[in-house]
Amino acid sequence: IRHLLSGADLDADTATQILDTAAEMATVAGREVKKLPALRGRTVVNLFYEDSTRTRISFEAAAKRLSADVINFSAKGSSVTKGESLKDTALTLQAMGADAVVVRHPASGAPHRLANWVDGSVVNAGDGTHEHPTQALLDAYTMRSRLGRLAGLHVAIVGDVLHSRVARSNVLLLSTLGAKVTLVGPPTLIPVDWAARAGVAPPVTVPPGGDTGPPALSRPDTDVCYDLDAVLPGVDVVMMLRVQRERMNDSYFPSAREYTRRYGLDGPRMRRLPEHAVVMHPGPMNRGMEITPEVADSPRSTIVEQVANGVSVRMAVLYLLLGGNNR
Ligand code: CP
Repeated sequence: IRHLLSGADLDADTATQILDTAAEMATVAGREVKKLPALRGRTVVNLFYEDSTRTRISFEAAAKRLSADVINFSAKGSSVTKGESLKDTALTLQAMGADAVVVRHPASGAPHRLANWVDGSVVNAGDGTHEHPTQALLDAYTMRSRLGRLAGLHVAIVGDVLHSRVARSNVLLLSTLGAKVTLVGPPTLIPVDWAARAGVAPPVTVPPGGDTGPPALSRPDTDVCYDLDAVLPGVDVVMMLRVQRERMNDSYFPSAREYTRRYGLDGPRMRRLPEHAVVMHPGPMNRGMEITPEVADSPRSTIVEQVANGVSVRMAVLYLLLGGNNR
């Protein structure tokens, strides 16, 4: 593949190749010499129009460990504030010799547009409420390393699914790799047509001024449930999502206390999980809202591992897209 824009770009073989390559890359971190020469002479641009800690830093670390030159571009402090368009910004970066552009943008679909304008590879590092495919890859990698497999796993993705690009990419990738996904959350935060596809009629209508989220990702084995307590005893993985208050109005989310009571993962709820099950969160967390510190910092939590695995997975993505030294 030339670009990584969506979880749907990956068939099972390609996704597995990325995960296997990431496992090889992970051994680099434990070596005395932490750098590989694979992308020497190549330039990776991190083009971030939205804030990020984990994704931006891990792409930078990944590119540097592969010996690429890295240019970090943040919209704040650039000519974007003078009104320069995404296209003109992209063409400027291309003129500076970008072999790959890693882009985060508040507009869903921005990386797809960018891929039409630049010659190099484009990697979607999160676009609006749409997708975040490298997050899904690092999540899959983490599940596989903790639980030994992906096929047959039952994964509950819990919370603000409506605004979650992480959920969308995970639904696509996990079902490609043979896992079963159940989406859990309040009816106002589950895309209406996802619920309809799963045969679960939303008991409420869309909030006034609200949206229904992007069109459903057609995955027949994705369930929807509004009752977290009913789902927990039967899952291998529970992935908590950040409540994205910045993307919603109060009609989606009338009461933080009520949300936490019904959908927050605390100690007693965690103990309803099977013994082997793990707890994930892509970060950043709202500690005390969707997850308590007791759970986030427990041995079942993979949250710190997910961050570490993100570097290896992004090394693998850059390596495979840019073809090492052979391109
Ligand atoms: N999970 C994730 O994308 O985190 P950042 O927003 O910090 O990159």
